[in-house]
Amino acid sequence: MPNLEELVQEINRFEAIISDWDESQRCVAVGLKRAIEALHKAALTNLIKSLKQESMSALRDAVADEVVYAVLLYHELVKPPKPPLLERIQTALEEVRPSLKSHNGDVELVAIKPPDRVEVRLIGTCSSCPASTLTLSQGVEQAIKNHCPEITKVVAVNNNPTINNANSGLISPFSSQITSTWIKVATIDQVPEFSVLAVQLAGNSLILHRQGATVTCYRNTCTHLGSPLEEGKVENGIITCPSHGFQYKLETGKCLTAPDVSLQSYPVKIKDDKVFVKLQKS
Ligand code: FES
Repeated sequence: MPNLEELVQEINRFEAIISDWDESQRCVAVGLKRAIEALHKAALTNLIKSLKQESMSALRDAVADEVVYAVLLYHELVKPPKPPLLERIQTALEEVRPSLKSHNGDVELVAIKPPDRVEVRLIGTCSSCPASTLTLSQGVEQAIKNHCPEITKVVAVNNNPTINNANSGLISPFSSQITSTWIKVATIDQVPEFSVLAVQLAGNSLILHRQGATVTCYRNTCTHLGSPLEEGKVENGIITCPSHGFQYKLETGKCLTAPDVSLQSYPVKIKDDKVFVKLQKS
């Protein structure tokens, strides 16, 4: 009896021959293949149903055979094998790492505690960021749960104390260059009431918003994972981050999603029709 490899080689050989045929001949061959496959899939589905009713162990034995398994997999009648838990957790962490790294943060796996708990450590600015709980629950935790449904608890442990030390010399990517000079950034009619205007000032990206004659200015950086806010939808004076939906009141910069967090704001002065901003935290 031929083994799986030989059977697959035989199929590949015919597929290579058919691929050289002209279009109309290929369509006939592919149509025939699909019709036969549909028939086999229907028969296999019925077979699995009755085997399940009779004996799950007989079904398990049958699926253990590599040819049976390969055919059932091809017809999507069995799930592909999951990579080991460790590998899936690493994949999940790799997925969120670019976002964390974009504001000098990172995450590392500390321990897997079967059956359902994973411990991680947030490092860099993520550990000291006021939104770190949300960074964990909305980014890291969600990614781990997506890849590993068996994990229900993702816990941040032992944040690196040196990172929280104000004297550590860590420069937050959200910190801005401070100047004590008022700098003109726009004219008042350039600042919209129903959206925001993004401007660059001394290497800092800022957003301006106007409510009547009052203009507010914030750093163009979401407190969640650092996305720019300029493309965010503004409704009733509230801007929604386009990345994951954090919302901020443009009058005060206060975050409505994570109430302990606010956008970094800057003083604004209006003289005649000109808007001036000072890069000094207000
Ligand atoms: S970056 Fe996640 S909500 Fe803004």
